[in-house]
Amino acid sequence: MSDPEREEPEYLRLNRAHWDGRAAQHALGYGSHRYVDDPELLSGVVRYDLPRLGDIRGLDAVHLQCHIGTDTLSLHRLGARVTGLDFSPASLAEARRLAEAAGAPIRYVESDVYRASVALEPASFDLVYTGIGVLGWLPRVAPWAEQIAALLRPGGRLVFREGHPLMWTLDETRPDALVARYGYFEHEEPLVFIGSDTYVEIPGELPESTTHEWNHGIAEVLGALLAAGLDIAAVEEHDAVPWDALPGHLELGDDEEYRMRAGEPRLPLTWSVVAVKR
Ligand SMILES: C[S@@+](CC[C@H](N)C(=O)[O-])C[C@H]1O[C@@H](n2cnc3c(N)ncnc32)[C@H](O)[C@@H]1O
Repeated sequence: MSDPEREEPEYLRLNRAHWDGRAAQHALGYGSHRYVDDPELLSGVVRYDLPRLGDIRGLDAVHLQCHIGTDTLSLHRLGARVTGLDFSPASLAEARRLAEAAGAPIRYVESDVYRASVALEPASFDLVYTGIGVLGWLPRVAPWAEQIAALLRPGGRLVFREGHPLMWTLDETRPDALVARYGYFEHEEPLVFIGSDTYVEIPGELPESTTHEWNHGIAEVLGALLAAGLDIAAVEEHDAVPWDALPGHLELGDDEEYRMRAGEPRLPLTWSVVAVKR
């Protein structure tokens, strides 16, 4: 008889297959080789977060949902001792390849983020870094916040920037208009997407995949972090997003961030939190 507690939820199986199917192409699309060619290169995402990260030299840092490791490598280059965690073995294979080619001693661990404090050592990190396309894969924010609290030492910090939940409500298939299509608040049933597209330019075709995704409101995320034992040190809303999240409405700037085109309303496209473990 099967043990229902051991059965993997459908969303995990589908979403992992989605990410596994994209990892190799993303390594090309993200230009992973640039990090080997230039030993000082930082990802645009980490560069944008430098004001929130501050000096991280010597810190024990974990990058949750690290994907192919370009941001993880950037944290290492800022002087932290870094662990990357992701549930996609194909993503981790790319991340390990990049770290080795760049000569960076980064530990990579395969795990569902909801089990991060079991896969890693609890209360042993000074910094949890995560964001830019992570929360939407998770049905609930409360267990995510609990994992972050469990990983941090008292006084340790979370630095998190994510797509703004208002931006996630908008119909990404309408270059002609800004139309709310999806709900803002956390919801029970997943949004189901079927397709073969991705958010970076890649050579060639991708396999079709089905994903299960969720939106989470700002107060729901902040409330979950507070309830899990973190104090909110800073919250910001940003007019920039590092991928073309609303095709037809955004233009790319010199800082590798997209902003609303001239003449379009200036909307919050990402938001960030710095929180400290009590
Ligand atoms: C858009 S990437 C975000 C990483 C980073 N911002 C980047 O662009 O490189 C999303 C990552 O979340 C991972 N992921 C999704 N659901 C997860 C889960 N439940 N546990 C661990 N990792 C998960 C995927 O495998 C993927 O690598």
